[in-house]
Parts: sequence; C-alpha cells; structure tokens
Amino acid sequence: MTEALEGGGADGGPAWWQRGVIYQVYPRSFQDTDGDGVGDLAGIVQRLDHLHWLGVDAVWISPFYPSPMDDFGYDVTNHRAVDRVYGSMVDFDRIVEQAHARGIRVIVDYIPNHTSHRHPWFSEARASRHNRRRDWYVWRDPAPGGGPPNNWLSAFGGSAWELDPPTGQYYLHTFLREQPDLNWRNPAVEQEMLDVLRFWLDRGADGVRVDAIQVVLKDEHFRDNPPNPDYGEGVDDPYDALLREHSADRPEVHALIERMRHVVESYGERVLIGEIYNEVERMMAYYGRDGRGVHFPYNFQLIKLPWDARTLDAAVRRYEELLPPGAWPNWVLGNHDRHRIASRVGAAQARVAAMLLFTLRGTPTLYYGDEIGMHDVPVPPDRVQDPWEKNLPGRGLGRDPERTPMQWTAEPGAGFTSGEPWLPLADDFRAVNVAAQRVDPGSMLTLHRALLDLRRREPALAVGQWAPVDAAGDVLAYLRSHGGARFLVALNLGGDPASLAFDGAGEVVLSTIPETEGGQVEGTIDLRGDEGVIIRIA
Ligand code: NOJ
Repeated sequence: MTEALEGGGADGGPAWWQRGVIYQVYPRSFQDTDGDGVGDLAGIVQRLDHLHWLGVDAVWISPFYPSPMDDFGYDVTNHRAVDRVYGSMVDFDRIVEQAHARGIRVIVDYIPNHTSHRHPWFSEARASRHNRRRDWYVWRDPAPGGGPPNNWLSAFGGSAWELDPPTGQYYLHTFLREQPDLNWRNPAVEQEMLDVLRFWLDRGADGVRVDAIQVVLKDEHFRDNPPNPDYGEGVDDPYDALLREHSADRPEVHALIERMRHVVESYGERVLIGEIYNEVERMMAYYGRDGRGVHFPYNFQLIKLPWDARTLDAAVRRYEELLPPGAWPNWVLGNHDRHRIASRVGAAQARVAAMLLFTLRGTPTLYYGDEIGMHDVPVPPDRVQDPWEKNLPGRGLGRDPERTPMQWTAEPGAGFTSGEPWLPLADDFRAVNVAAQRVDPGSMLTLHRALLDLRRREPALAVGQWAPVDAAGDVLAYLRSHGGARFLVALNLGGDPASLAFDGAGEVVLSTIPETEGGQVEGTIDLRGDEGVIIRIA
C-alpha cells in the first residue's frame, strides 16, 4: 500500500496538479482559425469548451514561440513572444483568461537547453570569438587532429558538433544543428532564462513543462561518451550507439533545477514538470533533494514498455516502490514524440489503456486526439515535415504520424481547417471525430468522459492510495482507496476472456465494454477479451 497523500496544495491538501488531469495540445494540429492549415492560439480558445466538457483540469500547450520551425517550435528565436502563425500575445492572454474562467489551468513549454540558430543571441555569438554573447553557447576547438571535439551524438542523427568555419570552432547541438545548446554554466544565461520563466508565470501560466531537462548541463571536461554495449540488439536509433554518460543526466543539473523550482514556487501553487527519458531509477533523482526538484519528472513507461500485463504490473510496482517519500507519481500514454497508443496496441486495447491511465495513482497526461482513438497517420515521403524523419528516413522514427490534425467533424478539413492541413488528415476522420463520438454512448470519447467524471467524483481514484493485486496471464489488477471507498481495477490486456479471483463483492461502475456496467461481481471476476473494469467494492 502506498503512503498517504502528501499534499502539495497551499492548504496542505492535494494541489490542482495532483488531483487533476493534464491535456496536451500540439498547437499546429489542434484548431486552425485563419485557414492557413496550421492550428493557432485562437483555435485553442475556440476549443476550450471541448476540454471543459471532457473534464480535464489543465492544458499543456507545446511551443508557440517565434521560430523558423526547423523543429516545429522547439527551436525558439524569441522566448517572450508568440509566433505569427499562432497569433499574438493577445491570443495567449485570452487562453489564460478563458481557461481560468472554466477552471482549467495553463501549462506552457519551457525550452532551456537550446535556441534556434536564428536567435539573435546565436547570431551575435557566432559573429566573432570575442563577441559578448560568444559564451552563451557551447563552443570548442576542433580535436587535435581536426574534426569534432568529442564523440557526442545528436539526438536527430550525426555528430552533436557543427563547425562554424568563419570562427574555426565547433558549437554543440544536442538536437538539430539548427538548435545550438545554450551554455548554462554562464550565469548570464541562467539569469536570462530564469527571467523567461518569470515572464510566463507573470503572464498567468500555471506551470511549465521543461523540455529536455536532463541535457541542460553537460560534463565540464567534455569527455567522450562510452559505447552502449546493448546497441544493435533491435535498437535502430543511432543516438543510442553511445551511453550518454557525459552529455546528459549530470549530477550538477539538480542544483539548477532547484533554482527553477524556487522561481516557480515563488508564484504559489504552480507546477514544474520535467521531460526526462531515462531509466526509472535515474528519473527518481529529478524529484530532487528533499523534494526540491521538479514536482514530477514525466514518467514515460507506458509509452516505452511492451504492452504486456506482467511487464506493466512489475513496472507499476517498481515505480511505486522507488518513489521517494512524498514524491507525486504521474503517467503518460502518448505525446507528440511517440507513436499513438491506438497504433501501438490497437483500438480495443486503447480503451483498456485509457482506463489504466486514469486509474493509476498519479497525474495523468492525455495527448490530444487520443480521447477519440486517433491513430498514427501514414505520411507520404513528399509530405514529411519532421526533421528526424528527413535525417533518418524509413526507420519509423519520424513524428509526423502522431501529429496530424485533430478530427473534430466529418466535414472537409475535419473541422480543423478550411484550408490545406499542414499534415494529412487520417483517412477515417469522417467516422472518427469528436462530433460523431459525442453522441455515441459506446465511443472512445464517451469512455474518456466517463473515466474523467468518475475520477473527479471519487477521491480514491484521483488521489487515493494504491495497492497491487496479484493476477496472472493477461490480467493487470490493483486497488485504489480513500476514506471508506475502495475500488478494484481489473484490466484484460489480451484479446481472449480471462478471469481474476476476487475475495469480495462489488459492482462494475465502469467498463471498457459498456454492456457489462452495473453488473454485480462476487468471488471471480470474468473479463471479456480487451475488457477493463472498475469495481466499487461493497
Ligand atoms: C523534446 C521535445 O518533446 C521534442 O519534440 C523536441 O524535438 C526535442 N525535445 C528538442 O527540443
């Protein structure tokens, strides 16, 4: 059984980011209001009613800052403005005002590790070795025999170093060569970037999701990374050829995160979330000394692990065991960087996955479109947008398939745009869309709404304790409880019927197969293939 809740809220109870559900909007693909085929901030305002109706508590908006879009906004040229394609600061202010009016919090993306190569700081930095901004980025001389200063790799393919011929030095780019890394060992960079954090919090953001937080500080001696002994065993991403011992997850980063936390906390009940792809054991360090790190590091295990009941059961238990005292858990099923859950596990299991996401202990993050079961959309080579796919084509690394336009209606443009969408629409959008699913009691959307509604009504599911239940085969089961209320969640991760011995009685309050709802269970729980149930224990 997990520890009782350690409230992060101002009143000692759970904070909004502990009780609530976060919904991620990828702004290019959510709602276009000006017909250019690209979503915009006014579109988010327009769709806040959908989020409110669905029952989410916060919206995290991926970057909308001015950018040449080499990495679709994760390459920023001005951290304190809105790109024209997305609208203006007036639109951002309207999002905050209108979201808050509906009780929805707003989380923005904060990208500390790098800027665009077109950022004025980088233009200055590369102007000469003596420029006052030179040291705002990470520059090194070529290796003694020539070539890059060390063996570090870019996440998007090739060396992490790019030669700047006029000044004869290399600059570091953990991501694209168009995304030079900032030098956070320079106090002026830290001061400026912490001010950026203040800027958005002053503007009404309720929190930030920190991009690539574990790479912000690197080894000060720039030592080579060692080879990855497991590379080649089905691992097809060249970035994994080396262990990132010296280029990521450095111990020094935690003191820096404490300073970010200090800024965020000075604004009251706001949230600092870190994006960290790492082993669970390593991820825990990001809660920080005495809980002075991020409020939670994003937990991507449901994205990364094979969809297998025994694997997930072991992972959930281990995660719960490893959480430091008072640390708040969280779960993520999809995002703009990973293939959609419906494509990974199939449409029927995606319903079970949703039940898992919203009943595990901790804050769930829901990726736009997953609430209607959107799947990855194949993108023909001549329409590829993602630089990762362009750099390393045909390996399944590209992220366009999970970034296609939201499917609102059956109209041309799917209610997303009156123009030509920047990425192709799914071929099934006429059947799979919000309008159709709102009126279908058996739809994925109806299931999501019911799950969020139940979670909101039952503190046991939102903030209650969690305890594992022994199960076998394809069944994953656990208990949630709070006060006198107890729920058993039993999920069949396989397509064949399965059963679970249950020492008690109760009522099925929600099922992924609606016909079985309201049924009484006693002794054994019989699950159909692909069925998940939430049982209120009598
Ligand atoms: C993680 C973001 O989620 C991803 O989309 C981006 O490409 C990299 N960080 C670089 O900012």
